[in-house]
Amino acid sequence: MLKKIAIIGMGYVGVPLSILFAKKKFQLQCYEIDKQKLKNLKIGKSYINHIKDKDFSYLRKSKTEFYNKINKNISRNDFIIICVPTPVKSNLKPDLGYIKTTSELIAKYLVKNQIVILESSTYPGTTDEVLVKILNKSGLIYNKDYFVAYSPEREDPGNKKFTTSKITKIVGCDNNKISNIVQSLYKNIVKNTFKVSNNRTAEAVKLTENIFRSTNIALINELKIIFKKLDINIWEVIEAAATKPFGYMKFEPGPGLGGHCIPIDPFYLIHKAKETGINPNIIELCSKFNNWIPDYTSKEIIKILNRNIKKNTKKILILGIAYKKNIDDIREAPALKIMNNLIKKNVIVDYNDEYVKIIPNLRKYPNFKSRKSVPLTKKNLIRYDAVICITDHSYYDKNKIFKFSKLIIDAKNFFKNKKEKIIKI
Ligand SMILES: NC(=O)c1ccc[n+]([C@@H]2O[C@H](COP(=O)([O-])OP(=O)(O)OC[C@H]3O[C@@H](n4cnc5c(N)ncnc54)[C@H](O)[C@@H]3O)[C@@H](O)[C@H]2O)c1
Repeated sequence: MLKKIAIIGMGYVGVPLSILFAKKKFQLQCYEIDKQKLKNLKIGKSYINHIKDKDFSYLRKSKTEFYNKINKNISRNDFIIICVPTPVKSNLKPDLGYIKTTSELIAKYLVKNQIVILESSTYPGTTDEVLVKILNKSGLIYNKDYFVAYSPEREDPGNKKFTTSKITKIVGCDNNKISNIVQSLYKNIVKNTFKVSNNRTAEAVKLTENIFRSTNIALINELKIIFKKLDINIWEVIEAAATKPFGYMKFEPGPGLGGHCIPIDPFYLIHKAKETGINPNIIELCSKFNNWIPDYTSKEIIKILNRNIKKNTKKILILGIAYKKNIDDIREAPALKIMNNLIKKNVIVDYNDEYVKIIPNLRKYPNFKSRKSVPLTKKNLIRYDAVICITDHSYYDKNKIFKFSKLIIDAKNFFKNKKEKIIKI
């Protein structure tokens, strides 16, 4: 008989995971505290742009149970998979609040032989030191009555080539028998699994991957700034360097990083390293440098606007506010910081993003609430003093943008060939 699974947190990670299990006819319980998301789950309506209603309806059509709050029904499952957020606080320290609250509730209803799997990205030691400590409040004995594993989510939202099922699933578990059981579970939905010897190693794998990206992105952005001063086109350098068949991996500069992973995860390891008395100089420097890139981009934009537009009040259109192409996620998106910086400098700013038609209420930028995406028509394009290319969504009609814009400031190499009114930053 197929095992029963509870999935906690129906966001960018929990939803695709649940859909894959539902397609394999697993009996699921999905838990989501956001009432609007829960309502949409129940009627099979997508709230994640790159996942279709059709896929959401797999959950509705299967016998999936939906709950707003963890309750006694969770005891009926063989596996409980946690996919809740792991943000940082304003002082850049890890915020494990969601993991802690979720674990407290699970502990209330934990029963013998249940296996709890944490998928949220976090620092090494969270599973052993935080999750297990809270689950022990159930009175059950860890590794005898109940078990825990860590399996990081490596989802790349919107990536059509590497969808969840095609990405090897890392499984870390201190208990060999349970590790095999967890791998067998995931083998139902992914092509390959890869076993590491314990939870903390699996936690370290995830952070290593994201810190590798963060550090290389910082490096390529620094090279961009240096080469600009030397009158060298970074994009040409990258294209040429990438012809080397070994020892080089292509990273691209841009307006800054965003999303729920790369800007945040390094700070989880920084925190843990400092706890052990190590100062993680390289990781910290690169992460802070990356955080500064949207400010650098904003300053460059202001300089260009002042040099090229002789009006006191400049009016610009930002193209793309999602943190990367073809998705609707604006968490930590550099475009928001850039918009805010420009507004502070009295620039009138509008945006176009078909994936983010309306800006929701954001804690950091309450003044953006309910701003709407401006349609990308000829009439609209000619109204602006400049357009700023931030996120290179595939739907952008470059010929049209080029033809009708007065000035184009390109932070993403939208326009590969240098043309008169395009200024790359
Ligand atoms: N988004 C990505 O691309 C991605 C990729 C890899 C790893 N991750 C990691 O996966 C984790 C989840 O990320 P996400 O992007 O899916 O976040 P998300 O914010 O999209 O989704 C998390 C969901 O959990 C819900 N939630 C919080 N507490 C809950 C509770 N007690 N009960 C039920 N629901 C609860 C939230 O309402 C939210 O809908 C994070 O640790 C993140 O770093 C994310």
